[in-house]
Amino acid sequence: MGGRNIVVILGLMLLVAFHVAECDPDTVTKVKKVDGKKMCDKGWECKGWSIYCCNETITDYFQTYQFENLFSKRNSPVAHAVGFWDYKSFITAAALYEPLGFGTTGDKKLKMKEVSAFLAHVASQTSCGYGVATGGPYAWGLCYNREMSPSQSYCDEFFKYTYPCAPGAEYYGRGALLIYWNYNYGATGEALKVDLLNHPEYVEQNATLAFQAAVWKWMTPVKKSQPSAHDAFVGNWKPTKNDTLSKRVPGFGTTMNVLYGDRVCGQGDIDSMNNIISHYLYFLDLMGVGREEAGPHEVLSCAEQVPFNPSSPSNTASS
Ligand SMILES: *[C@@H]1O[C@H](CO)[C@@H](O)[C@H](O)[C@H]1NC(C)=O
Ligand SMILES: *[C@@H]1O[C@H](CO)[C@@H](O)[C@H](O)[C@H]1NC(C)=O
Ligand SMILES: *[C@@H]1O[C@H](CO)[C@@H](O)[C@H](O)[C@H]1NC(C)=O
Repeated sequence: MGGRNIVVILGLMLLVAFHVAECDPDTVTKVKKVDGKKMCDKGWECKGWSIYCCNETITDYFQTYQFENLFSKRNSPVAHAVGFWDYKSFITAAALYEPLGFGTTGDKKLKMKEVSAFLAHVASQTSCGYGVATGGPYAWGLCYNREMSPSQSYCDEFFKYTYPCAPGAEYYGRGALLIYWNYNYGATGEALKVDLLNHPEYVEQNATLAFQAAVWKWMTPVKKSQPSAHDAFVGNWKPTKNDTLSKRVPGFGTTMNVLYGDRVCGQGDIDSMNNIISHYLYFLDLMGVGREEAGPHEVLSCAEQVPFNPSSPSNTASS
């Protein structure tokens, strides 16, 4: 009898212990009102009082198996960054920008579309897929974490006072959205408080840092007067008369304009643009949102848009 009681008590203690673990204070949403606005703090994932943290956050609708689906070939033997990229590094990096609205703006469908759009850009920049690749051409995102055969070291002497190249450092493309050139490593490093100008190699050694730099780029306008890719996508951005005349409308097409300018946009239906769009449509299907939610061609494409910025060494000059 006594022995059985002890077993029951031990069992109860275990239950209590599990319960306490489930109520880990880090995952409890804290809520307060500021000027009538509901603000929340969700601990590590969406930290700091923000209206965006009151709704679902990324881990609520995007889980490991979905990441594995989207990037199913990244660890295949022929890939070039086997073992580097994982779900946890994406979530850890994304968590820092969730209080600013990354993946936390609007209803669940818009949130899933934004994560799909961001990851579609990542996939198209890091893919080693091609037309007849197994699994199809869009299953090969995150195959790389760096440019494999750089033709130069991407040191622009024009920035020798602001972002001087470190002796021996190579500023070839690295990351989830590739960073090229000393001035881009310098500016990204300043924003992230990591010395990337002297240590550009950190980006190919640390997947969390690589994703963090990419989400930062997604969230940050090239110029103050222009939208970030995030703002253009979720509809925070209100186009000016100039934008309307330039065929720039909120949506996926304008995210390409922000990230790539005239390298991809304003040149009609070119392959490089269609490849990025196809990754996005493929991901919408895999996420269960469905490509029919992508919107009409004018919103998806930037074929007819006037680029925000001409490509020159003084702005993003990737690839
Ligand atoms: C929170 O979710 C609701 C309902 O889905 C949505 O209408 C609202 O815009 C979301 N809040 C923010 C800050 O995006
Ligand atoms: C990787 O980068 C993240 C984000 O900057 C940082 O918090 C972490 O300490 C880095 N990991 C290593 C092993 O350096
Ligand atoms: C509108 O576009 C023209 C031509 O690109 C430019 O010169 C002008 O400064 C723009 N106006 C505003 C308000 O941005």
